[in-house]
Amino acid sequence: MQLLDGKKTAASIREELTLAVKNRKENGQKIPHLAAILVGNDGGSMTYVNAKVKACEEIGFESTLIRYDDTITEEELLRKINELNNDDAIDGFIVQLPLPKHINELKVTQAVDPTKDVDGFHPQNLGNMVLNLPGFLPATPAGIVELLKRNNIETSGKHCVVIGRSNIVGSPVSILLARNTNPGNCTVTLTHSRTKNLTEICQQADIIVAAIGKPGYVKAEMVKEGAVVVDVGTTRVDDPSRERGWRLCGDVDFENVAPKCSFITPVPGGVGPMTIASLMINTLRAVELKGL
Ligand code: GUN
Repeated sequence: MQLLDGKKTAASIREELTLAVKNRKENGQKIPHLAAILVGNDGGSMTYVNAKVKACEEIGFESTLIRYDDTITEEELLRKINELNNDDAIDGFIVQLPLPKHINELKVTQAVDPTKDVDGFHPQNLGNMVLNLPGFLPATPAGIVELLKRNNIETSGKHCVVIGRSNIVGSPVSILLARNTNPGNCTVTLTHSRTKNLTEICQQADIIVAAIGKPGYVKAEMVKEGAVVVDVGTTRVDDPSRERGWRLCGDVDFENVAPKCSFITPVPGGVGPMTIASLMINTLRAVELKGL
């Protein structure tokens, strides 16, 4: 079994991006500037957004964090998005999800200018992804594909079982892995809460992408010997042995599944750092596409 080390892979991407920023500076080109909107005080969301800002600092991007109380109205949020859409200093921005219930996430993602939508959540970018046209790919699915690519994992002709059909991970990663690209060309089975015989389906998988948000859900008996397992789960579970009282737990029962795998991502240190690296790649692309 080998670890698919997202932390290490993301670090080498950040090195490449640091060099790209240095070259842009030397050539008098614009320094990429990412803005992030965070609504409310959800611990997980705060951690992710802080990590995104930290990654910007590390590679030399400019960043702006915009925070709102969870009482912000949808109208106020949409007004801020419109302001960022029209702000030439900002090359790309994200609105961290989930949002409070009184705010319509679809309205919010549709309000973002697709040329600044570095999360790749706008229907135009998702449509371009489906059609294999240029656009911004959603960060987590793109990070998973990049992790497979940089670790020389063959995907062509492989059976990939995706568990979970969310808009931001399961559905788009199933499309990316089925596209006629490299990585890609998988035979994909997208499974979800109504799927029957999930264990039997998973047993046929060469690659499993687990993205359902249920800690330890993928058990050893579901995994074929030699499979590649990508764990997208990041649920906080109580852990009194830790000072902070919790630990991050993936969707895979790592201890029992890992010995059967050819490759498996750890949690933390697998998909999470790759998501952030993809966002940084998209932000650099946003400024490059503008020709600045
Ligand atoms: N919430 C969980 N993952 C993501 C992500 O990739 N982007 C944003 N904006 N919110 C998220």
